[in-house]
Amino acid sequence: MKILISGALGRMGRAVFAAASASEDIEVAAGVDLNAEKNDLPFPVYAAFSAVKEKADVIIDFSSSSTLESLLAYAGENHIPAVLCATGYSEEQNKTVRAAAEKLPLFKSANMSVGVNLLIDLCRKAAKALPSFDVEIIEKHHNQKADAPSGTALMLADAVREVRPEDHYVYGRQGKPGKRDPKEIGSHAVRGGNIVGEHDVLFAGANETVTLSHAAASRNVFADGALKAARYLLGKGAGLYNMEMLIKEL
Ligand SMILES: NC(=O)c1ccc[n+]([C@@H]2O[C@H](COP(=O)([O-])OP(=O)(O)OC[C@H]3O[C@@H](n4cnc5c(N)ncnc54)[C@H](O)[C@@H]3O)[C@@H](O)[C@H]2O)c1
Repeated sequence: MKILISGALGRMGRAVFAAASASEDIEVAAGVDLNAEKNDLPFPVYAAFSAVKEKADVIIDFSSSSTLESLLAYAGENHIPAVLCATGYSEEQNKTVRAAAEKLPLFKSANMSVGVNLLIDLCRKAAKALPSFDVEIIEKHHNQKADAPSGTALMLADAVREVRPEDHYVYGRQGKPGKRDPKEIGSHAVRGGNIVGEHDVLFAGANETVTLSHAAASRNVFADGALKAARYLLGKGAGLYNMEMLIKEL
């Protein structure tokens, strides 16, 4: 499998390269990165998709939401499936992804770890079992993270809202927000040091609390998940795939 890494020179791009290097049947054909002129990796890296000369079977994107349009244009023209791992997409961009998936195999997940995808399922179960409990999500990430709340926190909140569709999101609190509305799903973003990614989902009832928790110890977990997703996508027709579908198929 020949891969094209978008965001190749970033923290995750480098983790994908390391994971690919450890696998005998994966080759990194090329990379795309805004900082291409600083390339210190042993494969060509270009500043834009339009400059890529090498052929790849699949694109893995760990750049940023701003790459989406040029990535989809390149993937569409060259009929290359793509694994979209960047976070921070707008609602409009999510629509663009759904439209592109009518013609291309696309895989999208804000969290490529199997553990977090189990956590999402557990959140649905807890929300069903504890309908009167207040739900608060606390996520912690390194101090370089660009977006907040994390894409994973949004996926966790969405899972709760599948069960409680009338709930709404509240991002942090300050001043005098007054009594908590029972229909709030609170979301709190902590940023510091080099924390890879931690998510706690707190279900607080009258006399007891339940906390569902996940911590990623290394970026390798996301890189390995992205390579699994790339393999999975190769045999697929047009459509939008996610981690839950991959896990079911495994
Ligand atoms: N899905 C997951 O499991 C998962 C896990 C970790 C991080 N992420 C997401 O992946 C993205 C990258 O994370 P990171 O920690 O590696 O960030 P990073 O800042 O270390 O790396 C991003 C790289 O992408 C490049 N880049 C940014 N915008 C670009 C553009 N428009 N065109 C070309 N290159 C561009 C940057 O130059 C940089 O080298 C973020 O959106 C992050 O939230 C997702």
